[in-house]
Amino acid sequence: MSSIAILDSGVGGLPYLSSARASMPRESFIYVADRAGFPYGTKPRDEVKDIVLRLVARLVRSYGPKALVIACNTASQAALDAARKANPGLPIIGTVPAVKPAAERSRSGVIGVLATAGAVEDPYLDSLVARFAKGLSVIREGAQELVSFVERRAAVAGPAERRDAVEPYVRRLVDAGADQIVLACTHFLHLREDIAAAAGPSVEVVDSRAGVVKRLRQVLSERGQLIDGGPVARERGLLFDGGPAAPERGLFLLTGAGVPEAEYRALADSFGLGGPEPMPGL
Ligand code: DGL
Repeated sequence: MSSIAILDSGVGGLPYLSSARASMPRESFIYVADRAGFPYGTKPRDEVKDIVLRLVARLVRSYGPKALVIACNTASQAALDAARKANPGLPIIGTVPAVKPAAERSRSGVIGVLATAGAVEDPYLDSLVARFAKGLSVIREGAQELVSFVERRAAVAGPAERRDAVEPYVRRLVDAGADQIVLACTHFLHLREDIAAAAGPSVEVVDSRAGVVKRLRQVLSERGQLIDGGPVARERGLLFDGGPAAPERGLFLLTGAGVPEAEYRALADSFGLGGPEPMPGL
């Protein structure tokens, strides 16, 4: 039975994996952290596209997943269309900044978008804003350093360190009147609670997990490939409650070297994955 693959430049897609698994507990998952390509957010769009296309080809060759989630906004903006064209038989779900729901919910008319250095300037974000946030003020905050912080420290840092890391970004958005903060980089979901606490109760923090999981379920179901959740999953111990070893726990694959090991091991554990281990098929 083939798996659902989820990829990102690092650990940003893990919160998406959690949501997908909570919704589809009997599915098996493969998570890929492309540390060889990390970071995507500082690279030119075309370079990100090439990196992602190569990675997807390798993943498809080695594992033949039944669906792929690109759980990275920067990669989706650069490579989603090309990856779909290159893999016509494979349903690929991308991650789109949640500008639409934020625009619908905003009362102040000011929305903050927190993204990578590349994604804040990407024409794709321009088109989302033009389409869904017409007449609203959209403040874009490039927060590439927060991406590195999440890679190195998110699983091991204490509350004060996390708060200090998010505070300057959140402050700028809130001072400008934002009542919605869109997490337009998947890494920032690891800091969601910290961002919400720094922003205060009158600000909503929005992300795209629900939409991505809904779409994933929908494509699998349309293709007759959805293994729906239910009590069986718990009987077989496939969930987070001390389930069996990999691969049923889910594979956590890495490309490249120089990974922050303690952080990655802690995250593998807390997200119910085996490993991490090197991805085969270079
Ligand atoms: N997690 C990624 C995103 O959603 C990108 C992080 C990076 O590699 O710069 O955009």
